[in-house]
Amino acid sequence: MAKIRTQYICERCGTVHIQWSGRCNSCGEWNTLYEQAAASNSGGTRSAGKSKSKSSICDSLDLGSVDLSQQAISTGSFEFDRALGGGLTPGSVTLIGGEPGIGKSTLLTQFLASAGSDGHRCLYVSAEESRSQIAGRICRLGGSEISIGILIASELQDIEEQILSYKPQIVVIDSIQTVYDYLAPSPAGSVTQVRECATRLSDLAKSGNIAMVLVGHVTKDGTLAGPRVLEHLVDTVVYFEGDRDSYLRVLRVIKHRFGPVGDLGMFEMGSFGLVDLENATGVHLVDRVEGQAGSVVFPALDGRRVILTEVQALVVPTSSEQPRRVATGLEMNRVLLLLAVLEKKIGLRLYNKDVFLSVAGGIRLTDPAADLATITAVVSSLNDQPVDPSFVVVGEVGLGGEIRSASNARQRLAEASRLGFTTGIVGSTFSDSVAGMLTLRVKDVRSALGYASLTFC
Ligand SMILES: Nc1ncnc2c1ncn2[C@@H]1O[C@H](COP(=O)(O)OP(=O)(O)O)[C@@H](O)[C@H]1O
Ligand SMILES: [Mg+2]
Repeated sequence: MAKIRTQYICERCGTVHIQWSGRCNSCGEWNTLYEQAAASNSGGTRSAGKSKSKSSICDSLDLGSVDLSQQAISTGSFEFDRALGGGLTPGSVTLIGGEPGIGKSTLLTQFLASAGSDGHRCLYVSAEESRSQIAGRICRLGGSEISIGILIASELQDIEEQILSYKPQIVVIDSIQTVYDYLAPSPAGSVTQVRECATRLSDLAKSGNIAMVLVGHVTKDGTLAGPRVLEHLVDTVVYFEGDRDSYLRVLRVIKHRFGPVGDLGMFEMGSFGLVDLENATGVHLVDRVEGQAGSVVFPALDGRRVILTEVQALVVPTSSEQPRRVATGLEMNRVLLLLAVLEKKIGLRLYNKDVFLSVAGGIRLTDPAADLATITAVVSSLNDQPVDPSFVVVGEVGLGGEIRSASNARQRLAEASRLGFTTGIVGSTFSDSVAGMLTLRVKDVRSALGYASLTFC
């Protein structure tokens, strides 16, 4: 018989403690521990009354009985499918996290509408919105009639029952944070509740061979109870990101049991919903003014996708004793290091200059391959000499001013060439050739600036 002991769960991070304490030693939050009885041989928080079926050992696998024809279900969106490596796998659980208002419900309504019209039996469980709000969204997305089941419910037991009787192939739970198990002692929305509900729904997805999607809201710092504590419970984790002031949305796969991770799906949010942005490589360059001093194009790699970005620099005489260094979208320590290389190796005098750097389009670059583009932009602005607008610049800069080749340099240059760029400044170890692209191989910062026709006396 199971021995009952008491454990204490942190309301904020979900850490289990065997002793009560005023402060959670994992997340450091005060007064977040609450008591819970746990069967010492169960290791979980399964509700009373729900007995688990007895497990049995299988000592030989009949591989012939495995249904390999069971293919991923297409989401109806090229970009969504691309991010997931083909679509959603039956019997799998996918978590979609993202800030409120980013477009998760929109994306999934579009997916269900497409899957429904392809003949899949779909159920959309909304624990947040009313039937009329959902209908309003469907109308906005251009649908007059869609063949999906809609359930407005938030009680776990109710949802389980409805799924068992409706027998859907695809289920969306929007959102997992608003579903609760009335038998669990913790309050609705708490980490324990969210985890318990996700575990039970996941069991249902596996036993019923359902492709299930759980929606989870996260705040900017990802601290809200939900997605972060569920990542290990589900098969696939994707985050839907974007600036709410911009139309651009990015779907990023960070865990995937059935396909590659790191791939991106890119979308445009419009009045009729989300539209695939298949040709996103140059999306951040649309507002670029060619021939401006201080502007350099860098082919960034995001996941496995090349996105062309514009690194901008503005170097002006300082009016204060302490010159200003401001960087948006670049790491400040990296910027300071690059400015020091310019002073030491090229002899530029920057101590009496304010330096402002920015990556256009609100992109954040952490890739060291952006170093050479940053340096080139600074010198271009300092000298008021524009860099040829058909150039792209890629390379990591070492403390000695040497250039190291970037990862996937060939792929970066090939995408730049496809968008009409004709010359690439790259590290000297780059040995490939790229159709339509002249590659200028450089050993150090001095020769790179020379190739960019920038003087530095
Ligand atoms: N008529 C509209 N035109 C353009 N965008 C809209 C319109 N209506 C809603 N949106 C976009 O959809 C977002 C809400 O999408 P939703 O799927 O409900 O987000 P989530 O489920 O992530 O909270 C809004 O923040 C807005 O960006
Ligand atoms: Mg929503």
